[in-house]
Amino acid sequence: PTIYGITPTYSRLAQKADLTRLSQTLMHVKNFHWVVIEDSTEKTKLVANLLKESNLKYTHLNIKTHRTKHSTPYWRTNKGKKLLASGVEQRNLALDWLKGYLQKAEDTRGVVYFMDDDNTYSLKVFDEMRKVKNVGVWPVGIVGGMRVEMPLVTDGKVSGYNAWWKPFRPFPIDMAGFAINATLFLEHPEAKFSRKVQSGFQESEILKYFATKDDLEPLADNCTKVYVWHTRTQKPSILNPKKLKRPPVPDDHIEV
Ligand code: UGA
Ligand code: MN
Repeated sequence: PTIYGITPTYSRLAQKADLTRLSQTLMHVKNFHWVVIEDSTEKTKLVANLLKESNLKYTHLNIKTHRTKHSTPYWRTNKGKKLLASGVEQRNLALDWLKGYLQKAEDTRGVVYFMDDDNTYSLKVFDEMRKVKNVGVWPVGIVGGMRVEMPLVTDGKVSGYNAWWKPFRPFPIDMAGFAINATLFLEHPEAKFSRKVQSGFQESEILKYFATKDDLEPLADNCTKVYVWHTRTQKPSILNPKKLKRPPVPDDHIEV
């Protein structure tokens, strides 16, 4: 089956570094179709060129996250922590694209994987997800305050979860810890992410359309192996050119 990797991305100083690392991982994955959705009103040259030069099979989309007073829900005041989930509109646009694409495709076999642009992916995680019948799950390293967040497996079935962050989540699984059979999105065209739920609940929001705990297929050696890490790129701190004693050499013409 084809793996459809769905990656929202937004402009920031480390964006090209993150996308370079990810694209160079993906160059080693067979039968992969990368759906990259920019959080912007226009597609940028930086992302367009990076995709073109990668020689990957890809689809480039864009939609800007809509932020209004009314889209800011009640948990807004939670001590400046990240409150609204990221990537919601972008992933939903990708799902709309996918449904249109599969309706015209001869071969609809595939699996959907939601990929942050700054995570670290072993090639082994892609081998695992090709085994997915409906919804497959596996551990994610360095996430939620833990060394590893993972489904607990008893007799080949998911019996619980080892998760410390918001353990009351219906599916306490990070976005990087599951993949869904692509054809199921044609059977459940209503399945999408929601602006209304707080961060950490997006995963449950999409999974609830396709599975209960009992249906989850544990992969990566009964969820004992870590093949993906929720790494986060540190925000770089750059000197303000106006504060430098000697005027710096202009570098605005250089894409970083
Ligand atoms: C965690 C999960 O791993 C994400 O999949 C989930 O979307 C996110 O929480 C959430 O629910 O908010 P985290 O590392 O905190 O991830 O999030 P980011 O990596 O900053 O963002 C997730 C994706 O959305 C990235 O690919 C990022 O480039 C993109 N993003 C982020 C945007 O498109 N726009 C933004 O304003 C911020
Ligand atoms: Mn991330």
